[in-house]
Amino acid sequence: MSKKYKEETILTKLGRDPAEYYGVMNPPLVQASTLEYKNLETYETKKGQKFTYANIGHPLSDHFETAMAELEGGHKAVSSSTGLSPITASLMAFLKAGDHLLMCDSIYPPTRSVCDRLLKKFDIEIEYYDSLIGADIRDLIKESTAVIYMESPGSATFEVQDVPAIVKEAKARGVITMMDNTWASGVLFKPLEHGVNISICAATKYIGGHADVNLGYAVADTAENYKQLKKTHVDLGHCPGSQDLSLALRGLRTMKLRIEHSEKSALKVAKWLQGRDEVQRVYHVALPDHPTHDIWKRDFSGGNGLLSFLLEEAPKEQINKFIDALELFPIGSSWGGYMSLLQPQTEMAFRRVVKWNEKGMLIRLHVGLEDVDDLIADLDQAFRVFNS
Ligand SMILES: Cc1ncc(COP(=O)(O)O)c(C=O)c1O
Repeated sequence: MSKKYKEETILTKLGRDPAEYYGVMNPPLVQASTLEYKNLETYETKKGQKFTYANIGHPLSDHFETAMAELEGGHKAVSSSTGLSPITASLMAFLKAGDHLLMCDSIYPPTRSVCDRLLKKFDIEIEYYDSLIGADIRDLIKESTAVIYMESPGSATFEVQDVPAIVKEAKARGVITMMDNTWASGVLFKPLEHGVNISICAATKYIGGHADVNLGYAVADTAENYKQLKKTHVDLGHCPGSQDLSLALRGLRTMKLRIEHSEKSALKVAKWLQGRDEVQRVYHVALPDHPTHDIWKRDFSGGNGLLSFLLEEAPKEQINKFIDALELFPIGSSWGGYMSLLQPQTEMAFRRVVKWNEKGMLIRLHVGLEDVDDLIADLDQAFRVFNS
């Protein structure tokens, strides 16, 4: 799609071709496992047969993957049934026994589990690094380093990594870089434009946007890297569900508006929380006191609806009263939907490099599309219950 258009416009066009479907605006839901070959010759040569088996690809996955590759500025994408599956596939595609993996410490906890439980079984050496390391990553790169993995901003406390500095060191040593780009969902940051080889995203979050899609994708920068990724993706039997692809394509059209709304509201909530006595600290990339605010401002085009806050130390029953009193922040292990959510960040103890020694519960909020003053009033009444 032409670069002359702004991203809002591009998002209305990506991954659809009405001419292919008698003018139907959105690609129809394709429910398929088996595809019929024209004849023996096409079966044997695959020539003239775009799709051979639906879990390797079919028209709807093709529309979604084309859209995401275009949005992220890459060669081609793979998609599958969760946000975690392209993370596993990407790591397994570019690592082999004896390799060394550099993994950022502020990682999404299930990715840590993939490393510590799954990759370890295959004799891969995993070394966690401080997400704020920047160019000093050079000191950790060894002969056997095959992959540097980033997630930026990091989960829970949103450390923004110096991606250009890390990529520069990786390229100098021929190391593959990959990044979980879910926070930016393909719009707020473009890893491939900064030289990252593989950009990964859970479409379950902002792309789906309505808490009813399980989907993920990874975009490769070159034909060669795509081939390597795709082979492992197929070997792992990863494939997306048709309904989820269809809903994700729909979600793309409004994603930017939803993110912008959430961004504005989240910042207002974050500033309001900063003024509360019950709150020790607020973590939001757009707050000037966030440790990596300057890198975020330099590299990202905007923020989203995520923030965390450290509640004052309090007895468990008091914390329970606070969380249970909230009417507009149900507890949920996700984010990026139309609704606000709360999730206690209980996995901070797993951080290896920069130990989490804070006292008090760390709580992550996703600020959704509700009226922001209603959200603040809800937090306010819950704090009254906390203090009662
Ligand atoms: C940063 C990040 N990456 C990946 C995922 C995985 O997505 P899914 O839940 O679809 O597997 C999540 C889910 O919370 C996430 O927050």
